[in-house]
Amino acid sequence: MTRRDVFLSGAALACAAQSGRAAAPRNICISSANGLRATQRAMDLLKQGADTLDAVIAGVNIQELDPEDTSVGYGGLPNEEGYAELDASVMHGPTRRCGSVAAVRSCRTPSKLAKLVMEQTDHIMLVGPNADRFAVEMGFPAESLETEKSRLAWLVWKQSMRDKAGHSNWGPGLDSGPPAKPLAGLKKIFPHADDDLLAWAYQKALHPPTGTINCLALNTKGEMSGTTTTSGMAWKIPGRVGDSPIIGAGVYVDQDVGAAGSTGRGEENIRIAGAHTVVENMRHGMSPKDAGLDALKRIARNFKNDKDWLKAVDIQFYALRNDGEYAAVTLWKGNARFAVNDGGQSRHEPCAWLLD
Ligand code: GLY
Repeated sequence: MTRRDVFLSGAALACAAQSGRAAAPRNICISSANGLRATQRAMDLLKQGADTLDAVIAGVNIQELDPEDTSVGYGGLPNEEGYAELDASVMHGPTRRCGSVAAVRSCRTPSKLAKLVMEQTDHIMLVGPNADRFAVEMGFPAESLETEKSRLAWLVWKQSMRDKAGHSNWGPGLDSGPPAKPLAGLKKIFPHADDDLLAWAYQKALHPPTGTINCLALNTKGEMSGTTTTSGMAWKIPGRVGDSPIIGAGVYVDQDVGAAGSTGRGEENIRIAGAHTVVENMRHGMSPKDAGLDALKRIARNFKNDKDWLKAVDIQFYALRNDGEYAAVTLWKGNARFAVNDGGQSRHEPCAWLLD
């Protein structure tokens, strides 16, 4: 670092200090769009004086245990072998500690498990079967993560994997007649499944999602915490771990500055250490919105800013500064929203976007 850099970063910090930041922190929670209930529960707990990490974990537990959220926890879309594998991380601002788990197959609330890694071990990350074993040692029941809905979606995905001649080993045999159109064919294979459910599963087969929930909180004492939890990319290779359990990518908290998290395609986030980048950007004076947009620009740069190449990338960053200012950003213009609770009812607000 040159003397000029030192001068400039000092100037940026001074500028941030003078930029009208509120002196008194307030209770506030933000989350990805699926976090309306999470932010509500987290806020209720903050008002009762709960620790910020306990609040955000209790919030995301709602999604983790909801079989209808197929991107998180129980009912999350499986890997290519049909097993859901969950990743989660937590970071506790007051103690500056963190914990994470990855590729968990039998604990429905991996965010709680990540907190136990933080509290009960001298490690930060446990993965795979040994994370499951740790869960049992900590008293979690070993439970399956698959639901009828997620298993049906996996079967539809298997069925949609055709060779160039349109043949799939997971569809009716060649001897059963000429191939049917995709949805009609699925109806033949899954006659009892609801049409809408089949159409949904087919879309998930064609466009594997990477949904996730991130939740960040600030309280009136200026304490901050965050958590991110996910079932990761649908149909992934077993053992694939995304950004959610990576401290500095899926979540990062420095309550001297703020907190950040991410949802979407984890591979791109890991390549830019996104949550850490967003917090560092805020440290150097950027607003939460600009801090997130800068992280997105780094992702776009990794694709040489080629919009055709970037088309397949879906990613969001959430940023909460320690004075209560917040923002969420998404790569592509659209209707992306995020959840906010600043003391009343949770609501959605629009994400800012980088590319049109
Ligand atoms: N952001 C979730 C994942 O890529 O696994």
